[in-house]
Amino acid sequence: MGIKQIIAIASAKGGVGKSTICANLALQFSRDYKVGILDADIYGPNQQIIFNVANQKPIVKTIGEKKIFLPIEVDNILLNSMGLVIDSAKAAMWRGPMLSKAIKQLKNSTQWGNLDYLFVDMPPGTGDAYLTVASDIELDYAILITTMSKLAVHDTKKSKTMFDRLKIPVLGIIDNMSYSICPNTHEHINDFMLVNLEQEIGCDLLGSIPRHKDLTDFNSSKKNNLLEPIYNKLKKLS
Ligand SMILES: Nc1ncnc2c1ncn2[C@@H]1O[C@H](COP(=O)(O)OP(=O)(O)OP(=O)(O)O)[C@@H](O)[C@H]1O
Ligand SMILES: [Mg+2]
Repeated sequence: MGIKQIIAIASAKGGVGKSTICANLALQFSRDYKVGILDADIYGPNQQIIFNVANQKPIVKTIGEKKIFLPIEVDNILLNSMGLVIDSAKAAMWRGPMLSKAIKQLKNSTQWGNLDYLFVDMPPGTGDAYLTVASDIELDYAILITTMSKLAVHDTKKSKTMFDRLKIPVLGIIDNMSYSICPNTHEHINDFMLVNLEQEIGCDLLGSIPRHKDLTDFNSSKKNNLLEPIYNKLKKLS
C-alpha cells in the first residue's frame, strides 16, 4: 500500500504557523488514520521540538548499500526530520538541487510502512530551492497557511501561483492567528483588517484558527480540538 496521500503544509511567509498547524492536523488525523510527518524545513526544523523528541534520532539500518531510517514514533505518529539526520549548519550552504535531493532521499529511505497521510512541514519560501523540493517530493496536495496580514496574503498568492505551476492541487487556505477570543465575553477580536482570502488568493478557505494559548509554543502533550472543523472538511477532500 505505501503512502496513500502526501500533503504539504506550506506558505511563502515565515512564522505564520505552518509547523504548528502541521503538528495539530497530524494529531487530529492520527485519531482515525495512520499518519506520518516529514519535517522538510532544513534551516529551522521544529517538529522534533513540538513532539518533545529533540534528543531522539531515527535508527539507521544499512541494507546492502542502502541506508534505511526507522522513523521516531510519537503520539501514534511517525516522524522523520531533516533536523534529526542532517547537520543544519552544513545544509544551510547547500543549493536547491542538493537540498531537494537530500529531502527526497530522506522521504524515500524512511521506513514509513503503510500510511494514510504523510504531512510535509515545508520551509518558508518560493525560491529555486523551494520549487525543486516541492516538485521532487511527489506531493498529492498542498494546504496554504496564512494570516490576514497584507504581507502574508501577498506571499501566499505567490505560493498559490507556484503550486499551480507545479500542477499540485491546493486543498485550501487555513487562516491562522487573524483573531483572538476574549476570555471573558468570548467575543472575537480581529487582529488585522478583514480580508476576503478566498477572493484574494483564489482558493477555498478551509477555516480560521484563532490566536490561542493552546497553540502558542504548542507541544503535543497539550491536546486541543481547534483543528477539528478543518479536519472534518479535509477528510472529505483528500
Ligand atoms: N493559532 C496560534 N495561536 C497562537 N500561537 C500560534 C498559533 N499558530 C502559531 N503560533 C505560534 O507562532 C509561532 C510561529 O509558528 P510556527 O513556528 O508554527 O510557524 P511557521 O510558519 O512554521 O514558521 P517558520 O516559517 O519559521 O517555519 C510559534 O511560536 C507558534 O507557537
Ligand atoms: Mg515551521
